[in-house]
Amino acid sequence: MNMKSQLLNILKDGSKPVSGEILSKQLGISRVAVWKHIQKLQTCGYEIVSGPTGYRLRHSPDTPYSWEFPQREALIHYFDQLDSTMDMARRMARKGCTDFTVVIAGSQSRGRGRMDRNWVSPEGGLYFSLVLRPDIPAVISPRVNFATALVLAHTLRDVCGIDARVKWPNDILVQGQKICGMLSEMEATEDRVAYINIGIGINMNNPPPPDLPTATSVHALTAQSISRKKFLAEFLNRLAVKMQSQDFSTIMDEWKSISATLGQQVRIVSRHEVNAGKAVDVDPNGALIVEKADGTLKTIYYGDCFHGHP
Ligand code: BTN
Repeated sequence: MNMKSQLLNILKDGSKPVSGEILSKQLGISRVAVWKHIQKLQTCGYEIVSGPTGYRLRHSPDTPYSWEFPQREALIHYFDQLDSTMDMARRMARKGCTDFTVVIAGSQSRGRGRMDRNWVSPEGGLYFSLVLRPDIPAVISPRVNFATALVLAHTLRDVCGIDARVKWPNDILVQGQKICGMLSEMEATEDRVAYINIGIGINMNNPPPPDLPTATSVHALTAQSISRKKFLAEFLNRLAVKMQSQDFSTIMDEWKSISATLGQQVRIVSRHEVNAGKAVDVDPNGALIVEKADGTLKTIYYGDCFHGHP
């Protein structure tokens, strides 16, 4: 465990001040080194006060620094600001970073959305990309995106107490409004997945973008600020368990149980065509099956999905 995690752990444990001498003994470092770590934490926004009897932690910022995730610290890369976590994660993936690497940004100046759209990324939201390296054939890689969306929706439900539902292909809605978007890039070698870079943007404690009336945020729905650190830790723990599934063969059945799309009249717009009809099912790899007005079924593999369009 990193020194800062250990130090915070000790300070978090008790409400009483802890002396520099005790910290130095417990951490096995000099008092000067203790002081340097405390200074660094203070510059990162931790309110650590020192008095005659020692140090006391008054307040921790809600910033997902790597040391806030002691179980997976080496995999967490936090930046106050990035152009886009997708670009950074892709560079890291191509350089061979480990499975389950997480790149987080406090805000993004050029956040990317699906279909070449921007993703407005002010402070308060949660923006991150995950580099996953499942040992699966490339053709079933979409299942990993659906598994991730499913885990996200369940984490939003359980941690934030909101009725999060999955919208095809990879959005998360609450009461029909978008709270979270996902973007995914994949590279394969010899038909097996080399890496999947999944970017996730959650409107958490930021107000929803004002120009998007169909967007919402956790704060707008609950009037509460949710800890992004706690949310992310919980989500990563749950996803790590889910990723142990061998082939994700039952993922779509689970997805269907909290789907906002099935049963809806939908219009699916892709670069090449527009399809409309009733969303009746998804296949095991997540393609949407739409019943058209003439009763024929059409399998749709990608596109932007709009609900409520007869
Ligand atoms: C969409 O719904 O259009 C997808 C939005 C994805 C946004 C996230 S924020 C973190 C990651 N970095 C980006 O530039 N985009 C994704």
